[in-house]
Amino acid sequence: MTLVAELDLPDLDIADPELYGERWHEAIARLMDGGGWLARSPLATIVLDREAGEHFLRTKAAIFPGRLIAQLFGIVDGPLHEQIEGNIINTNGDEHRRLRSLVNPALAPRAVIRYRPAMREFLADLWAPAAAAGRCDLVEALCKPYPARTIATVMGAPLDDAPRLHDWSMWIQRQFDPIALSDADQVAIIQRKVGEFYDWVRPLIARRRDDPADDLISSLIAAEEAGDRLSDKELENLVLNILVGGVDTTQSQLAHAVRLLALHPDQWGALRADPDGLAARAAEEALRFEPITPFTARLLVEEVTYRDVTFPEGTVIVVCAYSGNRDPAVFAHPETFDITGEGKGPRMLTFGAGIHYCVGANLARAELEEALAFLARRIRTLRLDGEPVLQSVSGIYGTDALPIAFESA
Ligand code: HEM
Repeated sequence: MTLVAELDLPDLDIADPELYGERWHEAIARLMDGGGWLARSPLATIVLDREAGEHFLRTKAAIFPGRLIAQLFGIVDGPLHEQIEGNIINTNGDEHRRLRSLVNPALAPRAVIRYRPAMREFLADLWAPAAAAGRCDLVEALCKPYPARTIATVMGAPLDDAPRLHDWSMWIQRQFDPIALSDADQVAIIQRKVGEFYDWVRPLIARRRDDPADDLISSLIAAEEAGDRLSDKELENLVLNILVGGVDTTQSQLAHAVRLLALHPDQWGALRADPDGLAARAAEEALRFEPITPFTARLLVEEVTYRDVTFPEGTVIVVCAYSGNRDPAVFAHPETFDITGEGKGPRMLTFGAGIHYCVGANLARAELEEALAFLARRIRTLRLDGEPVLQSVSGIYGTDALPIAFESA
């Protein structure tokens, strides 16, 4: 048995603001080339291969380190602290099981089908001005407003509030980004945004209590498990978690998907030839190939020994979805972006694993599939029209701008 601290491991600072694009891919390739399954980042141990990643995500000996992160960055009061305390990702055991069993039905595969017509409407509405121009920044034109409008519809919020929902989601999501948390000005903004969101959502929940509709908040109000219902506070936090989890993420993944398709004209041609058959596969391959959640994390609450290495209680494990999704022992041709491969293959790590597996995965997949099928029916040739502006992989791996030029079909 060897203690993890005694191992000679390669280093990667996952909070490096310059870590994106080719530099990011090269950094992980360098770690994987060594053949090892572990690396070290300041404050955390990185797990590289899929099997080990899944082990740490699933073990009962670990929790999501949200409260530890808050403590490390001095977030001890205010609306952000209240939100971190109530965040579903920071609950465990029976409390978490209860919350998930109340929220899961509202986001189950069948439940999200009802939002597909609205998704198509938003896509058509947003695309019209860009289509005429033959070029656009796809982030501004589509990737950004589309998930915000969708989540407004899912929540039963007025569509006019979609831009505010986008702004709140983008800021509050930064509670998981060590770069933002190291900056007092950004933390102050996140605190304010959480407060604004609570003030906005309370009257909406009250309205739905009096006047239920066909939306997620009404489903959550009605959700019941063995006679047990969600309290107002739990409802506010769950709605916040769904908003925060559901906008920036899908926006970023859609931008990566289109960038990858623009860089692989043969794959774009395949998708164009069969949008109905291949859009879901294309979404899946983009999620695997360029995950917008390159890392998720766990804090060990007891000692774990795995593959003859001992990880003491208190170790922070960062599971790398990017390398896990390219594990050569698991995926055939992991370095090839191929939307035509048969079936889903072994599970990727982009949505995490275990009890915190992304509750919005079905909604995200539906949104990506609708958007890719929509674009494939309308664009004949697709190319990048300048360098995409990528954010760093710390937190959500987003795209600030995706200039594209295209010929309409
Ligand atoms: C491409 C889009 C998305 C990606 C890649 C993504 C990824 C993730 C990841 C990696 C986790 C943590 C899993 C873990 O640590 O085991 C997570 C959790 C979560 N996601 Fe997503 N997500 C996406 C979209 C969404 C959407 C659309 C929603 C809401 C509708 C959402 C809501 C949540 C929530 C509430 C959690 C916490 C679940 C829990 O603690 O039980 N996500 N997501």
